[in-house]
Amino acid sequence: MQPERRRFLKLAGLGAGALACGRAAFGPERGVPAVPAALAQTGPDLELALEAGLEPIALRPDCVETMLRYRARVIAGDPAAVWDPGPPFPGPVLRARRGQRLRIHFRNALAEPTTVHWHGLEMPDDMDGHPRHAVEPGAGRVYDFALRNQPATYWFHPHPHGRTAWQVYHGLAGLLLIDPAESQPAEATPRELALVLQDRRFDAAGALVYDPTPMGFLGDEVFVNGRPAPELRVPAEPLRLRLLNGATHRSFKLGWSDGRPVRVLGTDGGALEPALDKPYAMLAPGQRLTLLADFGPLAEDGELRLEHLGFEDGAGGMMALATRLPLAARFPVARFRAAEPTAAATLFLPSLLRGAGSRGGWAAASPGLQPLPPATDRPTVRSKGGRPSLPTQDGPADRSFRLLMQQGRWTLDGRSFEMEAVAADERVALGAEEVWEWVNGSGGMGMGGMMQMPHAMHLHLVQFRVVGRDPDPRFAAAYATVRDGFVDEGWRDTVLVMPGERVRIRARFEGFTGLYLHHCHLLEHEDGGMMRNFRVEA
Ligand code: C2O
Ligand code: CU
Ligand code: CU
Repeated sequence: MQPERRRFLKLAGLGAGALACGRAAFGPERGVPAVPAALAQTGPDLELALEAGLEPIALRPDCVETMLRYRARVIAGDPAAVWDPGPPFPGPVLRARRGQRLRIHFRNALAEPTTVHWHGLEMPDDMDGHPRHAVEPGAGRVYDFALRNQPATYWFHPHPHGRTAWQVYHGLAGLLLIDPAESQPAEATPRELALVLQDRRFDAAGALVYDPTPMGFLGDEVFVNGRPAPELRVPAEPLRLRLLNGATHRSFKLGWSDGRPVRVLGTDGGALEPALDKPYAMLAPGQRLTLLADFGPLAEDGELRLEHLGFEDGAGGMMALATRLPLAARFPVARFRAAEPTAAATLFLPSLLRGAGSRGGWAAASPGLQPLPPATDRPTVRSKGGRPSLPTQDGPADRSFRLLMQQGRWTLDGRSFEMEAVAADERVALGAEEVWEWVNGSGGMGMGGMMQMPHAMHLHLVQFRVVGRDPDPRFAAAYATVRDGFVDEGWRDTVLVMPGERVRIRARFEGFTGLYLHHCHLLEHEDGGMMRNFRVEA
């Protein structure tokens, strides 16, 4: 038995027998997001109970694993704010309106410390799930914050130092959807579907395996909503797909089996206006995309597949990870079949219906679903000549961090995570608008070039715009397999930085002071120390 597994069984209080089987970039619209002024004085609009616990889950039909899972319930407020089709779907879906205040009574029913991080959201630093605020087993805490962000798909996941990847891999994750503050006519709204992409590995006996190296970990099977490459029954109409890459390490290059373009409605932190067509779309760990897919005109066999099209990550030699599903291979992620979904299908097809009960009733409906609108008080990414524009930013960045392997670990500029430490170049003035830059690798030849792989750089607190990419000519061939799939035109909180590449982002640090994190969202890298604090100071 692998040590990691033995440890888990011990933590779970289970013996083996319990297993069934083995700069002006923001434009004129800039401004502080308007949060209702009365917010601070009012009580919560929504009060929830949230627990992280152990749960036996059949990941495959004949195999039950002890997994980790969030459970949520509404204490006060809209009963439809928590939606959970149950396992194997990874976690409940929380849904609330922009401007609402959430109070979440969290309890840690795991056998190890954890925190809850609200990925993509602006909030006070003591609510953000920083590892210094770990919640001990059996203990609890209250997360209390307002939803200041634009309507989009966010998510929550654990963030205890050194254990984030393990906890996420074993099932801790959930979606948090922000709807517009005002309801909009339901008729104008496509039905929607959440798709949480992950990957997993099993041993010959069918037991779940997680044995990462410092480089990372790739599973052998892709899981969508907790099921391996499922077939999903969808109504023959346009659907809005909310995608989350909830894998610890694997990036996806998503395209359609019939070659149609990928229509992107939104990114991590907001909507694109108008929608944008890409030949394929990259989705790095932690990132979200909202797509529009029309299941009306399907191919003759009646099936449309969302596929991973395969890309070269530029990582060679010792950087390459063992997997039966290489990044360079093409394989189906999910198969869609047009048919009115049956009750059984809904379990694996979490239709997030609100106000669409008159149109099928294949999930509990509740009032008031709205289309993703442009935000009004913060710049939505608007078109220039009919297409969302990509702002560019030349000149020196305000901060630059090299993504380096040193002494066998991934670092930011040679530094590893320290729980409370903040370096001089990690202090940010409240209200500042800054360009940050990540440079992937040493820039030199030789081992420096060999010791590179893509990283998915993530900032807490802010949504940012990607304002520049300088690919490395040494990796031109690999780069050509991904470059048309970056959705840099929208608001992002996580960005893929390819080997040798220099990526610049622009963010405004406003709303809160305190200690936040920047890190690689390849979770094995994060746990290995490729993470640092930054402090916003008034
Ligand atoms: Cu989704 Cu600090 O992470
Ligand atoms: Cu985050
Ligand atoms: Cu990384």
